[in-house]
Amino acid sequence: MKTDHGAPILPSVTRREFLAAASTVAGAAAFGGVDSAAAAAHVLPPLPYAEGALAPVISANTIGFHYGRHHRGYLDNLNKLVAGTEFADLPLEKIVAATAGKADRVAIFNNAAQTWNHTFYWQSLKPGGGGEPPAALKQRIEAAFGSVDACRKELAAAAVGQFASGWAWLVSDRGTLKVVRTGNADTPVTQGLTPLLTIDVWEHAYYLDYQNRRADYVNAIIDKIVNWEFAAKNLG
Ligand code: FE2
Repeated sequence: MKTDHGAPILPSVTRREFLAAASTVAGAAAFGGVDSAAAAAHVLPPLPYAEGALAPVISANTIGFHYGRHHRGYLDNLNKLVAGTEFADLPLEKIVAATAGKADRVAIFNNAAQTWNHTFYWQSLKPGGGGEPPAALKQRIEAAFGSVDACRKELAAAAVGQFASGWAWLVSDRGTLKVVRTGNADTPVTQGLTPLLTIDVWEHAYYLDYQNRRADYVNAIIDKIVNWEFAAKNLG
């Protein structure tokens, strides 16, 4: 992935580009080959904006905990869980695919999928977002939902209606746009769907700012910071 050296902020990237970054393995060779199994690790991708850039919709405090503790926690757990296993050297997306639905791999799947989902979530938001989607995406949305507003409403309903923890997604199902929701760590990428954008509805995503008012959090995202350009890029 292209970055400015030392810069904490990345420009908006496509799904394919950030997946490559999320799958980056820091090889032991760089450290003189010391304990290669233990040294290989997935790396937390930088946020694509400053922690306070989404305020007041999402505060810097929430982003600080969400990105710095929760996202990092999933990634650290993943690195510990895969060390010394057949998954140690696999890219993140392959670990998600290889462990999905396997009862003896639930912990690895949960942490791998949550790592992937969160990287996708940060890209699904941007300062000054919301508004109207780019023309090509707008046409596809109108074909599937009738109007952009109908799409917004269906996405909001999925996010608000997801019982307990999970995610709401705009996806492409072999070219047809749909809204789906997933529980806990589950992700549409294991269901043959192409995610375009997502909203995290785990309480840690909004409770510091909105307490139990999930609908306010969801509607503020859709109105003000959803990144339609990222979704359009993911259409390919
Ligand atoms: Fe989260």
